[in-house]
Amino acid sequence: MTWDPEQYLKFREQRSAPFEDLLALVPTKPGMRVIDLGCGTGDLTRRLADVLPDSEVVGVDSSSEMLKKAHDRAQRGVTFLAQRIEDVEGQWDLVFSNAAIQWVGNHESLVRQLFSLLAPGGRLAVQVPSNTSHPSQTLIAETAREGAMRDGLKGWVHQWPVLPVARYAEILFEVGASDIIALDKVYPHVLPDWDAVVEWMAGTALIPYFERLLADLRPEFLRRYGEKIREAMPDRPVFFGFKRTLFAGTRPE
Ligand SMILES: C[S@@+](CC[C@H](N)C(=O)[O-])C[C@H]1O[C@@H](n2cnc3c(N)ncnc32)[C@H](O)[C@@H]1O
Repeated sequence: MTWDPEQYLKFREQRSAPFEDLLALVPTKPGMRVIDLGCGTGDLTRRLADVLPDSEVVGVDSSSEMLKKAHDRAQRGVTFLAQRIEDVEGQWDLVFSNAAIQWVGNHESLVRQLFSLLAPGGRLAVQVPSNTSHPSQTLIAETAREGAMRDGLKGWVHQWPVLPVARYAEILFEVGASDIIALDKVYPHVLPDWDAVVEWMAGTALIPYFERLLADLRPEFLRRYGEKIREAMPDRPVFFGFKRTLFAGTRPE
């Protein structure tokens, strides 16, 4: 997928709140070997390194556009690598991922795989958006199923692999994790108007649609989606309640 770092960073402030909540689920031991899966522009990878004393933090991402930005954030103890989350190996004291594994399929096996990367005493901490029933998401799928869009996409509609929150807790228990935490939280964003919601989605959820649509259909997709969002979220400012799932578990010593 082709990411646009500038578009993504437009909502940097709103996106930092779940990151801070995820960080709160992590013990701050000195000298940790840390991997940040789907590190994006690396801003939050740097923050991770700053709060974990003497840590060695590696950020991995599959997007060359995002990594280009991330390389500017490299510093002592913080490095970035082009790698797919599915291909990560090694033993880590912290396997961390903020808003990234929703782009990787089959969470039943993925969470097990990520847990297997932990050294004894290591912690897995993950945050994924779980707002799939919000109009910002359902109206994307609705737009994709209509007329020329349906033909342009050959009937394809993106399916998010995110599981119900309780299932993440169960999987962590099944792999023998201790100190399990799994929770849903609604982040109460107030945006100027519906157009900002469309802008937000253009930086993330709309990307796979734009990749599949021919260039001349993209503005029309955005226009139709915008009309639906304006109708569903007409207020100024608009309340955008964004549900996210956070989970964490520790591999026993
Ligand atoms: C929504 S951004 C989150 C970035 C960062 N973690 C943050 O919180 O700002 C999702 C990132 O996951 C990356 N990504 C998606 N699928 C991936 C995969 N299979 N392997 C590695 N990175 C992936 C994307 O390139 C993108 O940079």
